[in-house]
Amino acid sequence: MDYQKEILKKPIPGHIAIIMDGNGRWAKRKGLFRVSGHEKGTKTVKKIVEAAAEFKVKYLTLFAFSSENWNRPKREVDMLMNLLVTTLKKELKTFKDNKIKLTSIGNIGSLPDKAQKELQYVKDATKENENMCLILALSYGSRYELTCAFRQLADKVKNNDVASKDIDEQMISEHLFTSDHPDVDLLIRTSGEQRISNFLLWQIAYAELYFSQKLWPDFTKQDFSEAIYNYQKRERRFGKTSEQLHEK
Ligand code: FPP
Repeated sequence: MDYQKEILKKPIPGHIAIIMDGNGRWAKRKGLFRVSGHEKGTKTVKKIVEAAAEFKVKYLTLFAFSSENWNRPKREVDMLMNLLVTTLKKELKTFKDNKIKLTSIGNIGSLPDKAQKELQYVKDATKENENMCLILALSYGSRYELTCAFRQLADKVKNNDVASKDIDEQMISEHLFTSDHPDVDLLIRTSGEQRISNFLLWQIAYAELYFSQKLWPDFTKQDFSEAIYNYQKRERRFGKTSEQLHEK
């Protein structure tokens, strides 16, 4: 089936989030160092970002580095941070050509200075772009994000800026790193693992989940289209019955 053609006939999910998993296993299977897996994975990032922009996805969030990834060997962490900097430099043109706005979520202050600077540079350079918002989750952990939000709200209650009875779901959403982004419609994880791994726990409440067997470096535009096609065939009921959804 030509998924790339099929998906354009139906609404495209507004917000897609991806857990890009399997770089290490890809390298190991080929007898290469893990570094090569991440390098190949970066090529996939470019392809999928371009495909998402072409399909008119409005928000694409990529889990590029988790708060737990700091526990990896220092050599691998350093390599990933360098790869982030070189990729941002190299892909600024791609972002400009495709009118992509780059933003980030996570504990950005914990990244090395040069990564923070490059990130800020590319964010500033792309802030007027309106085709698609690309959100890099860097040093990101959902529980950390929720903890920060609850601390901020607790301070506001303490200072009498907010009454605890007025705290609702909307207000919590507005205190997350993702306050400017809509909830996730489709969450994709590659490499056959079926876990959420502390990613956007609040924001995926009603997301459709799609697990691909492909390792991230092998994931193609066709695989991405298949995930969207699969999503389009599902019925999102948001707690309602199927009959209610089809009532006129
Ligand atoms: C998971 O593979 C991938 C990561 C921890 C990092 C994702 C990074 C990239 C795709 C490249 C850099 C990205 C940007 C935006 C420049 P893994 O190492 O956990 O694989 P494994 O589970 O097979 O070991």
